[in-house]
Amino acid sequence: MAFFTSGTQSIPEIAESPRHIAVIMDGNGRWARKRFLPRVAGHERGVETIRNLVKCCVSKKVKYLTLFAFSSENWRRPADEVSFLMDLFMYALKREVVKLHKENIKLVVVGDRSRFDDALVAQIEASEQLTASNTGLVLTFATNYGGRWDILQAVNKMQLAIPQLTGFYQEDHLAPYLSMHYAPEPDLFIRTGGESRISNFLLWQLAYTELYFTDTLWPDFNEATFNLAIQSYQQRERRFGRTSEQLNESNTDTQE
Ligand code: IPE
Ligand code: IPE
Ligand code: MG
Repeated sequence: MAFFTSGTQSIPEIAESPRHIAVIMDGNGRWARKRFLPRVAGHERGVETIRNLVKCCVSKKVKYLTLFAFSSENWRRPADEVSFLMDLFMYALKREVVKLHKENIKLVVVGDRSRFDDALVAQIEASEQLTASNTGLVLTFATNYGGRWDILQAVNKMQLAIPQLTGFYQEDHLAPYLSMHYAPEPDLFIRTGGESRISNFLLWQLAYTELYFTDTLWPDFNEATFNLAIQSYQQRERRFGRTSEQLNESNTDTQE
């Protein structure tokens, strides 16, 4: 059943370290251009950053890591870059999945698979099946994913499932049909590459997420820059609509 937490419906338990981190891995092309390399060289290097970030998350006991790998708008890129990205995703899945499985990592891919070729869909399904009962880090790749696509596909599925409810939908009717229903909403969002935008990532789920933007380009993102993001998160006051005074009062209550 759905693991539903909603920052607008109830105040979630706030842990010292983020339980769920969602990342827009941006800046690969600029990283490569700075070195007079083709843009795709940046994507290749970006895979190494993912491998290191997964290790950091495992050691920090982060439970969910969600990575934006390809947006529904990235099809607008030159055809050769798009096909390189698809091949890279396929190749990296094939190469890494056994290692991830040994580390007890559960791999999930969210997004619209209808535009992927059969071999990629088969690889995704096999990777998800192999790691399905793992209990460690849940590593989600959002691939051909868009926040608006997600909300609309959820609305369509919900209407088919509960047609008698037309016009009276509430959050918890919709939530089980959203792609990431199995995870709590992200505590921390990180975007590398210097842009301060969401680019149609998890629109619904980021309602109360702490946002962190860094100029570091994705291939340069490492344990030290990751720790800066965590430190920034730990300095935030997550109010969920309440006042600072209310938070301080409830802290004193629990200390007494
Ligand atoms: C992010 O890096 C990777 C994907 C979108 C797949 P970019 O390719 O967007 O890199 P920049 O933003 O052009 O530097
Ligand atoms: C967002 O990066 C998508 C991914 C990282 C997969 P983009 O580079 O595509 O975002 P925009 O176009 O600059 O907003
Ligand atoms: Mg970009």
